[in-house]
Amino acid sequence: MGYINKNDSEYWNDYWSQGHKTSFGGTFINGYEGIIKNIWEDYFDSLRDNSQVLDLCTGNASLLRLAQNSQHRIRGISFTGVDYAQIDTTDGFGGQAGINLIFGINIEKLPFENKIFNYVISNFGIEYSDLSQSVAEASRVLLSGGELQFVCHCHDSILIKSNRHELEMLIQMFCPSDVLDNLTELIDALTDREVNNPQKSAEQIMKFQEACKIAERVRLELNESITYMADTFKKPFQESDFIGFLRYLLNSQCEDKQQALSLFKADLHSHKARLTAMINSALTKEQLATLKNLLKKNQLSKLSVNDVVNEDGKIACRISAVKE
Ligand SMILES: C[S@@+](CC[C@H](N)C(=O)[O-])C[C@H]1O[C@@H](n2cnc3c(N)ncnc32)[C@H](O)[C@@H]1O
Repeated sequence: MGYINKNDSEYWNDYWSQGHKTSFGGTFINGYEGIIKNIWEDYFDSLRDNSQVLDLCTGNASLLRLAQNSQHRIRGISFTGVDYAQIDTTDGFGGQAGINLIFGINIEKLPFENKIFNYVISNFGIEYSDLSQSVAEASRVLLSGGELQFVCHCHDSILIKSNRHELEMLIQMFCPSDVLDNLTELIDALTDREVNNPQKSAEQIMKFQEACKIAERVRLELNESITYMADTFKKPFQESDFIGFLRYLLNSQCEDKQQALSLFKADLHSHKARLTAMINSALTKEQLATLKNLLKKNQLSKLSVNDVVNEDGKIACRISAVKE
């Protein structure tokens, strides 16, 4: 497709650099809400005073921002968040007392000594990694009697189902001769038309007429493919605001249409890569069983696995255990 071959952490760099607070961009604009927020706030309230907490795959530190509200400083609790993306927390959150954020860290190889954390936590994070390594690392850095809690994506959650539908739409959009190809061809034709106008030579007249013909043909094709997308992917298509972007792109005020389209496609491509990673990370029943075995193998007992459910249905699973 002609895109730079980025690795997973670079897609996350792009995402976090847009200032998102959680990994659900438009859904949780100012941090988590609802059941996810409640689960973690209750958890933070239950932490022992003067303890050390490690948040794996912290992203823009959404969990630690929630924790901050539960007066951890007064209780002497310190939080460390790690992530392999390079995240610029320009709002100064990372510099606060009791908050330590370290980026460029793969959780499959943690830069910490053995047995130094009382708690290891992760919210929609650890399942993105190679669990055979990251669970061993989580266990290694936990003190005896220390606890872990992970909230993970699972394959049968409503979050994964709706994101899978959105991913199908993005895959379709990038198919040859589909919406994005049509749009690219249309912008190329409109650019050619503009470049050859006013038509001062016979060659320009010919090129101008040819560009008009192409633009007209592609416009019809684009209309057809948009109608198909809107009918097939109703909600995700509406939420993508493709029509809004189209209006902006075709407006005379958008001066550099090629550049605007190229940025839009790069953004969609990055979104598609993150959605693919999310869906691939979601734990199946078999993977959940493997995870339970891994926890046991790494001296993590008193296992508990529960569904996280809100008014719309299951949204995640919650796994907790204690280090022997
Ligand atoms: C879905 S986001 C969740 C971020 C945060 N926990 C939250 O709830 O907002 C997943 C994060 O995992 C990070 N990540 C994925 N695999 C990783 C790995 N092996 N080591 C460190 N971070 C990783 C990504 O960079 C991304 O920031």
